[in-house]
Amino acid sequence: MKKAKHVLMVMSGKGGVGKTTVAVNLAAALARSRRVGLLDADLHGPNVPKMLGIEGATMSVQDGSLVPVVTPQNLYVVSVAFGLPEADAPVIWRGPIKMKAIQQFVQEVAWGDLDLLVVDLPPGTGDEPLSVVQVLGDVDAALVVTTPQEVALLDARKAVRFARQVGVKRTAVVENMSVLACPHCGGEIELFGRGGGERMAEHAGVEFLGRLPLKPEIVRAGDEGMPPVLAGGPVGSPFAELADRVWAFITAPVRTPAS
Ligand SMILES: Nc1ncnc2c1ncn2[C@@H]1O[C@H](COP(=O)(O)OP(=O)(O)OP(=O)(O)O)[C@@H](O)[C@H]1O
Ligand SMILES: [Mg+2]
Ligand SMILES: [Zn+2]
Repeated sequence: MKKAKHVLMVMSGKGGVGKTTVAVNLAAALARSRRVGLLDADLHGPNVPKMLGIEGATMSVQDGSLVPVVTPQNLYVVSVAFGLPEADAPVIWRGPIKMKAIQQFVQEVAWGDLDLLVVDLPPGTGDEPLSVVQVLGDVDAALVVTTPQEVALLDARKAVRFARQVGVKRTAVVENMSVLACPHCGGEIELFGRGGGERMAEHAGVEFLGRLPLKPEIVRAGDEGMPPVLAGGPVGSPFAELADRVWAFITAPVRTPAS
């Protein structure tokens, strides 16, 4: 593989906090003006194709390399889901095979000259993130997605420490499912509490890149395979703003610790 200019891993401690939603929307937003690859490294629960509405697609082979599926928005996507016989076929693999799969997805794919490779990971700090770091050697940034409640934050702190320990250059936190606008009165409901992601980031000494609201439209968009950021409007705009902040974060000069 030609080295991507930047690599961003999207991680979390806990499952279901919105990694894939964030990864897909970020990648789609940034692909408007850059060449962006999206590697679905969630081998047991590959949701990227579903959320992009390209579930039925397959990867072809050209000159001995796998060719990513290209979306109409010019996003280059690789997922184990493209090779499965049916959407609900389980992937039953142990660590070494997962390592091989990720190696293949990185090294044997004709990604082209990527400005950015976004990697969507399963929750936690197991085989997949470790393999990604080992295979890519050099990961610019980790974006840790968390929800505001303490059980999620506890696990998110582990993801932050993992990134640091394996040598990811910079780590940031985004808080998802922050505030729900009541469909009846419009009042703000803090279902999972308030401010937890920001406090956690501050405590861990990493950057906080903002919060995303909890909205039923986001669930629907995921199920329908239409990333809100591409539709624009009030549902998409927080993702677009996050994408800009993430790009600035990745491309800023590395800060050396001040003390
Ligand atoms: N801000 C949000 N508002 C409403 N629903 C959301 C939001 N973010 C994510 N969701 C929904 O929550 C569910 C889980 O999101 P998603 O699959 O992105 O999480 P994940 O962290 O990737 O999960 P996993 O750990 O299984 O990979 C999905 O149905 C998604 O549409
Ligand atoms: Mg996911
Ligand atoms: Zn209300």
